[in-house]
Amino acid sequence: MTADTGTIFRLEDYRPSDFLIGETRLTFRLDPTATTVIAELDMERRAGAVLDAPLVLDGDELTLTGLSLDGQALGDDAYEATPERLTIRSVPASARFRLTIETKVNPAANKALMGLYRSNGVYCTQCEAEGFRRITYFLDRPDVLSVYTVRIEADRATCPLLLSNGDPVEAGDLGDGRHFAVWHDPHPKPSYLFALVAGDLGVVEDSFTTASGRQVKLGIYVEHGKEDRAGYAMDALKRSMAWDETAFGREYDLDVFNIVAVSDFNMGAMENKGLNIFNDKYVLADEETATDADYANIEAIIAHEYFHNWTGNRITCRDWFQLCLKEGLTVFRDHEFSADQRSRAVKRITEVRNLRSLQFPEDQGPLAHPVRPRRYKEINNFYTATVYEKGSEVVRMLRTILGDETFRKAMDLYFERHDGQAVTIEDFIACFADVSGEDLSQFALWYHQAGTPNVTASVSHDAQKAELVLELEQQLPPTPSESRKKLMHIPLSFGLVGPEGEDLGWSAVEGAAVADGVIHLKKRKQTLRFSGVPHLPAVSLNRGFSAPVNLTLAQKPDALLHLALHDGDPFCRWQALVTMFTQALIDGHRSLLADAEPTFDEALLDLPGRIAADAGLEEAFRALALTLPSETDIAREIGSDIEPYCIYGARARLARAIGTRNRDRFEALHQSLTTQEAFSPDAASAGRRALRNLLLDYLAAAERTPARAAGAFARSTNMTDRFAALSVLAHRFGGSPEAVDALEAFERRYAGDALVMDKWFAVQAMMPGAAALDTVKALMGHAAFDLSNPNRVRSLIGTYANANQTGFHRADGAGYAFFAETVLEIERKNPQLAARLATALRSWRSLEPNRRAAAQSALEAMAASQTNSRDLADIVQRTLA
Ligand code: PHE
Ligand code: ZN
Repeated sequence: MTADTGTIFRLEDYRPSDFLIGETRLTFRLDPTATTVIAELDMERRAGAVLDAPLVLDGDELTLTGLSLDGQALGDDAYEATPERLTIRSVPASARFRLTIETKVNPAANKALMGLYRSNGVYCTQCEAEGFRRITYFLDRPDVLSVYTVRIEADRATCPLLLSNGDPVEAGDLGDGRHFAVWHDPHPKPSYLFALVAGDLGVVEDSFTTASGRQVKLGIYVEHGKEDRAGYAMDALKRSMAWDETAFGREYDLDVFNIVAVSDFNMGAMENKGLNIFNDKYVLADEETATDADYANIEAIIAHEYFHNWTGNRITCRDWFQLCLKEGLTVFRDHEFSADQRSRAVKRITEVRNLRSLQFPEDQGPLAHPVRPRRYKEINNFYTATVYEKGSEVVRMLRTILGDETFRKAMDLYFERHDGQAVTIEDFIACFADVSGEDLSQFALWYHQAGTPNVTASVSHDAQKAELVLELEQQLPPTPSESRKKLMHIPLSFGLVGPEGEDLGWSAVEGAAVADGVIHLKKRKQTLRFSGVPHLPAVSLNRGFSAPVNLTLAQKPDALLHLALHDGDPFCRWQALVTMFTQALIDGHRSLLADAEPTFDEALLDLPGRIAADAGLEEAFRALALTLPSETDIAREIGSDIEPYCIYGARARLARAIGTRNRDRFEALHQSLTTQEAFSPDAASAGRRALRNLLLDYLAAAERTPARAAGAFARSTNMTDRFAALSVLAHRFGGSPEAVDALEAFERRYAGDALVMDKWFAVQAMMPGAAALDTVKALMGHAAFDLSNPNRVRSLIGTYANANQTGFHRADGAGYAFFAETVLEIERKNPQLAARLATALRSWRSLEPNRRAAAQSALEAMAASQTNSRDLADIVQRTLA
């Protein structure tokens, strides 16, 4: 593990490398505990580099077993090797030289899952961000691009399959039961995109012909016996390849494209050139084991990694501060892909829900950082929702501001200008400025300033003048180490909604530029006057969530209800509902804190029935519109002095009141949606299931008996319905014989399937109430649980800490103490996983005083631990600062 030395890396310290590595030839002699790696590096001094600079290569826990320069073994005094560094004191004056390095690594002992490791008997690698240095000494930085040739030698019986990047060039027998394969990748790449896989896996094969006629062989490798669960991923891959050609003009550039699913993986997946490695959770799906949400995630992540081939691989990052250059842009591309494959409106609402639940708390808490950070201690901790999701929102705003056509031209220029290079956010923005002729310097603050802007707006109307006045103000709250903020360029899409829901026209505008229905808020305060508006309309602002801000819009009292029923912009329609629900729940929390029973407005209680019955709306949209804000959402909106039991109480009461009030309507609709149609994972079918299962939950809340859910569980014919029914039983009727039976039946049925058992762990980790802690502790001892496997840990511990407000935030602080202990135990194996998990405490300052104090002690206990890795130390220190 990399110990915390206190070093901080700064963007302004960037210097190009003194040395380049034109070609890299690697030989792997695979062995579970003693793998030999021979790296032959064709190096040269960069033109203009300091002449007598020593050569310093990065390492991490490495053991050097051989070293020569231009074929001559180096004497002991010519170099210094530590696990972290190989320093060659004097490098030949000749511009070019060849360095041959031999290291020994132990894949079986590698529990950090960085570098070369074993997962279920399969050798695999993970090199982003700094894992390659755990394989061999190297210039392990993204701006050193090299052409790789890789020779893999292994046991034929246990490793019939030998894969690396690029195209296969040679294979053969070595005698003694061993064999080899050689791969060559013609595209120069940084070391973080290197990959190797060796093992015994099943495969699904297919092919794709690119627009210019290149035949690409596609392979998806999975555990034997799971081949028939890889079909959906293959289909998603082919659709991704076709989409990138039409949407961005990007074709694939090798003869093979392989995907390997492994069961131990820290993240979702990795875009290694020509050899993507995936967490098997994001590859394997069939109706029996995967929910509709799983299918949607698989489609999105397959696309994401494939799209990286251009945004990330062909054009990569100069340094790790530029991570959003590839990640924010690629998330934007996968969002657009999913929007085109499914329902654009539903996709956008889902994105915003995610952004608010994952990125907003980051931006509004101690871990806030700019989309393009300027400092880091541990780069692994910057694979954040801010870099990914807010990074995508920034690209979306660029498109909103410049328009589709200019946006596409600028992207074309980016691909043309920077292909084969390692570049910066400034290079990216320059393409948009050059094509549009616009000054984007104020806009660029979205990359450089942390924090979610607050926008307040108020509406007034002068019937005599037929004039509508909109007053806008932006306010930028301080974030860690940034107390003074500059004013931002905030693009707000808007419309004026008339009595029938129609968009009203307006003419002259005074006070700011408004074109194509977008208000460009650039000053602190702006007043806009719209003439030709005889009657006061409802104002629909930040349509499509055009800017990632917190908006408070004051207008006439019934405007929200009107927008909820009529707004032509589906996002704002959904938002109006959420705003109303949230307000009612905040009031409910306040009532319960004062020991008073919450009351709810009748019009609000009727609304879900009206939306549910509106056959003009997609089912998936209706399901989203009827979903109450989660307890975590409500806590975030309340912002301070949170009492989780009062939030839970308010939400449970509102759900029951809605279910009771609309019972007949919901029942009829639930009936009509209960059909015998054959399973299909498409978006429309998934939407019907989502609505049906949400209605089941409301009806169960109203009926106060588990019978309906138990029946649905027994009759379910796919995982989406089965898991939905199980959740209703476990969360509304936990402890009832029906819930206990269902949990047992589910466990029996899926005992051998780790990915499905993750759902079983998660559903129990979310059971409301203080007893959840004992449940979680007991489940840690279950045969299917494994503290070394990231999926298991996230399902049980991650779900408990992030999604169970009452169970985790116990009044006695026992949830936090258990959590701190568990995180420290995980840290000893996998510091990166422990650090991500620990971010669950980032909002500790918003809790009521007793819980706040208890959470602080848990954080301090983690900070005081002796074995602090750089990963965990960084998160804990920033969270406490
Ligand atoms: N680059 C990967 C992605 O976003 C994420 C990742 C980062 C995977 C670090 C592993 C390690 O597609
Ligand atoms: Zn990515």
